Amino acid sequence: MTLNSSRLTHPAGHDTEIQKYGTVIDRPISLDHKVRLASVASLNQILADTMTLRDMYKKHHWQVSGPTFYQLHLLFDKHYGEQAELVDLLAERVQTLGGVAIAMAPDVAETTRIPRPPRGREDVTMQVFRLLQAHEIIVEDAHEAARAAAANGDDGTNDLLVSDVIRRNELQVWFVSEHIAGAGIADPDEETARSVAAVKA
Ligand SMILES: [Fe+2]
Repeated sequence: MTLNSSRLTHPAGHDTEIQKYGTVIDRPISLDHKVRLASVASLNQILADTMTLRDMYKKHHWQVSGPTFYQLHLLFDKHYGEQAELVDLLAERVQTLGGVAIAMAPDVAETTRIPRPPRGREDVTMQVFRLLQAHEIIVEDAHEAARAAAANGDDGTNDLLVSDVIRRNELQVWFVSEHIAGAGIADPDEETARSVAAVKA
């Protein structure tokens, strides 16, 4: 076997893969093959998006600027750590269901629905917008996948998506979105809420 080749081959001469991506093997967990296949497909999409959001938090942790530098530097790293925990939970759920978890950066880049940010630095407002956009893509997908999992009887996947993914993402959205609240750009309803409060006062 030569290890200095860019294309490694198996010493026994067979395929290096023991299971193809997109397939599920049987597990005695009382869930149909079809159900596990459907759950694995949605979980892998959310996994790829979660890995992208995780890495975006690290990018912004390093590249953040301005008067709130220190606060956001710490917050972004905390959220990075929490997203990393979700990555592991999602990937291990895929394996539990008999699937193959998406793992490597090039595959994640091909799969994620989160738009690619530039390599260079962006200001805090753009950083926050990008994070909120990524969270919303994940939360929207997670709601849909959780409903499908519940309808299919995959309670474990439903629980993971609701209790871990949705609730953690919602909480992070709260912490991040408050940084642009009052700028009149956080939410179109924000101005309405302000006007109502002003009329009542
Ligand atoms: Fe750091």
